[in-house]
Amino acid sequence: MISTVASTRHASLPGTSIDGVDLVALAEKLGTPLHAYSASAIRSRIDELQTALSGLDATICYAAKANSNIAILQLMASAGVGADIVSAGELHRCLHAGIPSKRIIFSGVGKSEDEMAGALDVGIRRFNVESHDELLTLQRVAKAKQLIARVAVRINPDVDAQTHAKISTGKSENKFGVSIAEARRWFADRAQLSHVQLDGLHVHIGSQILSLQPYRLALARVADFWRELEANGHPINSIDVGGGLGVRYRAEDDPPIAAADYVAAIRVALNGYRGSLLLEPGRYLVAEAGVLLTRALRIKQGDERQFLVLDSAMNDLQRPSLYDAWHDIVPVVDDPSRRMTRYDIVGPVCETGDTFARSREMRECVARDLLMIKTTGAYGASMASTYNSRPLAAEVMLDKGRYAVIRRRQNIEEMMAGEQPARHWQTT
Ligand code: LLP
Repeated sequence: MISTVASTRHASLPGTSIDGVDLVALAEKLGTPLHAYSASAIRSRIDELQTALSGLDATICYAAKANSNIAILQLMASAGVGADIVSAGELHRCLHAGIPSKRIIFSGVGKSEDEMAGALDVGIRRFNVESHDELLTLQRVAKAKQLIARVAVRINPDVDAQTHAKISTGKSENKFGVSIAEARRWFADRAQLSHVQLDGLHVHIGSQILSLQPYRLALARVADFWRELEANGHPINSIDVGGGLGVRYRAEDDPPIAAADYVAAIRVALNGYRGSLLLEPGRYLVAEAGVLLTRALRIKQGDERQFLVLDSAMNDLQRPSLYDAWHDIVPVVDDPSRRMTRYDIVGPVCETGDTFARSREMRECVARDLLMIKTTGAYGASMASTYNSRPLAAEVMLDKGRYAVIRRRQNIEEMMAGEQPARHWQTT
């Protein structure tokens, strides 16, 4: 009943389209919650960065963790983009999607021996190594296989990326990378590493970075170190400048760092460097291309606050609960006749943390209204869970007036797959 009222109320108003696809019709067809991504928007981000990098021997290695759907990875592959991976699962996805192993680099503090072996077997381009123990383990694993592991040391430059503490990685208190002093010792002892080719530097100071200053600082430290190493007879063939470029989460904010300015800063910092350059952007390539389509379930008037209860929750998009992150949330059909009000926008999960926004000013909603949570292309679906036994949402790619489902909505049977009653008791 209410749904009819809501939809007829909107009947004459134009809805939002993304990449030529009408979102009202899309949500009717595929249901909600629904993660939707514009392929054109992703391609134009890739283009922007590739254009800025022209003339450099540079490879963009997309940080697969931002959105690891194989269709997104395929899009990267067809644009000539490689991948930055952090697990065997990501390696498998990337190869499956057609990203050549020579464009895959492996980062992360906790690579297991099996993961190292698997990556060596397929001949990935490079390991970004984050601790001495990892270096020695990789040497052992590579020696056993009679293969050479190409390695960059991840430098922790002790720079504050001026971002949220949970996504800041370049300060010495963080678990990532090693100090320049330690890296210096690795190079000095390089001859002892028979199956490791230590000839690269890597730095990644954090995510959602909105100012060039921390990049400049970190790159300057890396550049000084590269010059020192070269002067001491240690050639550096690869410098990986990481990812972290921020995106616009609020429409009213200024646009963040432009690709051209970012690359210009890299060119300045690494002036004179002749080896290859690697970049690991994740969010920058996909975040703004995505929205999470969701419907209002109901309005609940509390004693103190008014709640807009959606059919999506923290299991579909964790960022607001985890980092208090802001996402614009707007109706897909804007009805100027509705008055403005304020809502706490929440999901159905049984936690107070399941809140997308507090006291958000917006037009009044009614049940069944279609809304979109914006800028969810990165770290949305890839961080989703089935918490509260809510099946994973569907994902769809939009491209110039057409759409393709790239993950069908999980059903409850699929959600329980792999679980079983405790029937076959065994002893170790
Ligand atoms: N390279 C390395 C080694 C990384 O750890 C990351 C992200 C990236 C590249 C890509 O960073 P990006 O360009 O996407 O900023 N879940 C958080 C973000 C965690 C980022 C983890 N590492 C969020 O939703 O904000």
